[in-house]
Amino acid sequence: MAESMQGLRRTCRCAEVTENMIGNTVTLMGWVQKSRNKGGIVFVDLRDRSGLMQIIFENGPIDSEGFARAASLRSEFVIAVTGVVQKRAGAVNEKLATGTIEVQANDLRILSEAETPPFPIEENSKTRDEVRLKNRYLDLRRPDLQRNLMLRSKVAHLTREFFYNEGFLEIETPMLGKSTPEGARDYLVPSRVHPGSFYALPQSPQLFKQLLMCSGYDRYIQIARCFRDEDLRADRQPEFTQIDMELSFVDVEDVLDVNERYLKYLFKEALGVEVQTPFRRMPWQEAMDRFGSDKPDLRFGMELVDVSDVVRDTDFVVFKNALEKRDGSVRGINAKGQGGMGRKKIDKLVEFAKGCGAGGLAYIALQEDGTRKSSFAKFFTDEQMQKLTDAMQGEPGDLLLFAADRNKIVWNVLGALRLQFAETLGLLDPQNYQFVWITDFPLLEWSDEEERFVAMHHPFTMPQDEDWKNIDADPGSVRAKAYDIVLNGNEIGGGSVRIHQNDIQEKMFEVLGFSKEEAYEQFSFLLNAFKYGVPPHAGLAYGLDRLVMLMAGADSIRDVIAFPKVKDASCLMTEAPAPVAEKQLEELGIAVAEEEAAE
Ligand code: AMO
Ligand code: AMP
Repeated sequence: MAESMQGLRRTCRCAEVTENMIGNTVTLMGWVQKSRNKGGIVFVDLRDRSGLMQIIFENGPIDSEGFARAASLRSEFVIAVTGVVQKRAGAVNEKLATGTIEVQANDLRILSEAETPPFPIEENSKTRDEVRLKNRYLDLRRPDLQRNLMLRSKVAHLTREFFYNEGFLEIETPMLGKSTPEGARDYLVPSRVHPGSFYALPQSPQLFKQLLMCSGYDRYIQIARCFRDEDLRADRQPEFTQIDMELSFVDVEDVLDVNERYLKYLFKEALGVEVQTPFRRMPWQEAMDRFGSDKPDLRFGMELVDVSDVVRDTDFVVFKNALEKRDGSVRGINAKGQGGMGRKKIDKLVEFAKGCGAGGLAYIALQEDGTRKSSFAKFFTDEQMQKLTDAMQGEPGDLLLFAADRNKIVWNVLGALRLQFAETLGLLDPQNYQFVWITDFPLLEWSDEEERFVAMHHPFTMPQDEDWKNIDADPGSVRAKAYDIVLNGNEIGGGSVRIHQNDIQEKMFEVLGFSKEEAYEQFSFLLNAFKYGVPPHAGLAYGLDRLVMLMAGADSIRDVIAFPKVKDASCLMTEAPAPVAEKQLEELGIAVAEEEAAE
């Protein structure tokens, strides 16, 4: 029977009780983690979000009716206990913050009974994700998730505090808006009042924050929910949170400066970690050439080497063909000490490379005895082999892996292999925080699918002054005033200086294939606002979920989101999305095609 808590007040949380409080009376409330009945004595581990406290129920200190109730306690009952803090009579538990003390209970109330949960509430649960997510309210009781969400709350608090002190204003922007050009698919919300018309949920507050600059709010910050209908991965959710900012009268340096100071402050205050500033800077081209990625993980080496010139005159068609392609190259990585790898494992690497889009993966395995095994030895002379090995700084015992194709594929394959090796070789210490700014992104990216240039960031990104003159002759060579902040191989944020001059903006639309009319149709409010005095402005947005994931050492952003969605964008707990009543559809003037409804 559940009792009331009337007349009782919790004095503190379980793990807030310390040795200094020995002899004091405390009242604790929480969940029964575990209870053991040892005859005349009942031990209960009481849990709340701070941690655990051992409670002792003994006939004498507690009356016999209370003792009988204590003997009936089971896991996940919610109880209130009043008792005296004492030194542990039994063995000290060194794993617990409260392991040297316990509470000798003299009063117990059962506030709520509980059925046996479908899985035990414990750290590092081995229960399947589906079961945990279906019962997320129970999963969220686990100490690791509670720590993550407490960290997330702290990060949000510190963020607001830092930027407030820097003179930023927190301003909310609408959820129901018009499509924003961030490149993903929109989530649409039908309008009842305007049948056939739809709001789009924001992919980011991009256009609104630029308007706020036009309106004079020269430093803006928002912890903003964003929605993108894209394929989910471990670091992507359909709804996620940005720390979004925009600043007026600034250039690249100002944005990087305030953000370096922010991250330094955040890591110190939230984790006690000293981050070195200024951060490293790396132009996009260098990041691709050295690491095969625009979000390089700098915790280890194994850099890519361009061997195109070394292999150009060989008879190996795979290499030759690649070098004839537009933007074709042959590049390699040296997996130090992996030359003894067996054939089967190498075949697995080849399969992995193919999964990344490669036609194959060529290798030289340098044996400890000075011999070598290679998948293309027959096409190379001994001298050519040696030259290639030297270019890769190959030593006996090393495994040299080569990809030959268009740069985009080569980077992708070798960049992924590099990470795969680092993971299997245990080179990735989650507490080694390596920040790097990636700068000088290309303004435009060629889309094979659309057969035109598309904006690499968004159409409002400012080109670099010295490159702009080449926009007609060689659009692909124009670099942008854009930057990403990368932490341990994750893009945790990105931004740019925005175009504030009409002539550049119009030219940009033209290059992207928008007519002036089309541009106005989509972005009229922004382009109109720009007619009436625009300050130069720039900004940046972090993925808060990714940032907290890395700070928490979690593997997935799901572990730092209270109620996340799974791969197919559904919520296993609420079962969203779900069909709605016919009446609701009628009000919206929407009909669902029959085959789809039947699915
Ligand atoms: P961008 O699209 O790069 O920039 O997004 C900023 C950051 O948001 C995070 N992020 C995501 N996190 C979780 N799930 C997702 N689906 C997801 N998509 C993005 C990433 C990313 O770095 N308006 C611009 C910013 C600007 O220019 O100021 C923007 O949204 O960490
Ligand atoms: P083949 O002559 O097709 O058997 O290929 C010889 C070697 O080249 C094999 O080890 C293939 O995996 C490898 N290979 C094939 N295509 C590529 C490629 N695009 N890049 C690197 N190696 C490749």
